[in-house]
Amino acid sequence: MRPVKVGLLGLGTVGTGVVRIVEGNQADLSSQVGSPIVIEKIVVKNTDKVRSIPISPEKLTEDPWEVIKNPEIDVIVEVMGGIDQTKAYILAALEHGKHVVTANKDLMALYGSEIIAKAQEHQCDVFYEASVAGGIPIIRTLIEGFSSDRITRIMGIVNGTTNYILTKMSQEGASYESVLKEAQQLGYAESDPTSDVEGLDAARKMAILGTLGFRSHVELKDVSVEGITGISSEDIAFAKRLGYEMKLLGIAEMQDDAFTVSVQPTMVSQNHPLAAVNGVFNAVYVHGEAVGETMFYGAGAGEMPTATSVVADLVAVVRNMKLGVNGSKAMLPYKPKRLMSDEL
Ligand code: HSE
Repeated sequence: MRPVKVGLLGLGTVGTGVVRIVEGNQADLSSQVGSPIVIEKIVVKNTDKVRSIPISPEKLTEDPWEVIKNPEIDVIVEVMGGIDQTKAYILAALEHGKHVVTANKDLMALYGSEIIAKAQEHQCDVFYEASVAGGIPIIRTLIEGFSSDRITRIMGIVNGTTNYILTKMSQEGASYESVLKEAQQLGYAESDPTSDVEGLDAARKMAILGTLGFRSHVELKDVSVEGITGISSEDIAFAKRLGYEMKLLGIAEMQDDAFTVSVQPTMVSQNHPLAAVNGVFNAVYVHGEAVGETMFYGAGAGEMPTATSVVADLVAVVRNMKLGVNGSKAMLPYKPKRLMSDEL
């Protein structure tokens, strides 16, 4: 059995988790797919850096092209983040016939359609489960689990950092600055946490969820965004006294074939299950015409939960390789639906 060889782009928080899971669960993964899955090469910024896991030095390289163009590599797993340069790497990997797994919501929200079109052109897979809500398998749920239904509403707490901050401010009266620092140390926040606290990270995730849920093109510019920087401990305490919890909520709604998508701090009634989603946890509430209400809950950020989704995608890619099929998590072709404000 020829091993399936993986090129890993990035060895930060999520990349480290990917190595831990692929190596730690090797026997089980290989019995699921019928081949060993081997991380052949890892692209890092600095090969001399001391790592929290043992990695043989010959696996490390600072040159992404050495991995992307390597004919031995079957799958590229991208967990380095970034947009323009990373997009170039992913497109090149697809042109070289490699399947791609990515956790990159920034890239998928902006260029998902283009990347998937390129994958289809080269009969490759692109899977991106970890791009939204870390360890919750919401992307395959929206595409496969609800393929029979018409989704009318998606509400999500989809940013772990801001939920962690709001929870600590609410439960412990902690200051915004100190909790943000903590979230950064725990590896939840983006390298520039502005995109977390200003709501952009959540907006990107809601654009992806809206696109998949509504089978339409929800572009980032269609999402209205407000972050949590204007929220004080007093606002949170006041909301609480009235029976509400303050949450950064993404709301995507579809009515008569027109949609709206927003991200904003929202007072959620303490009786609603979303009010009980605390700390780094995420939750996505989905309402479908036939299914009614459903809700999905789990860790939205952090090393192992996010790596769980990345490696699950890797397993799905390898299964497809074995079956000789491609099953990219499609964003295209979708019937264009209207943005509700287009009608105003
Ligand atoms: N910064 C992101 C969050 C990481 O806090 O949710 C996971 O996408």
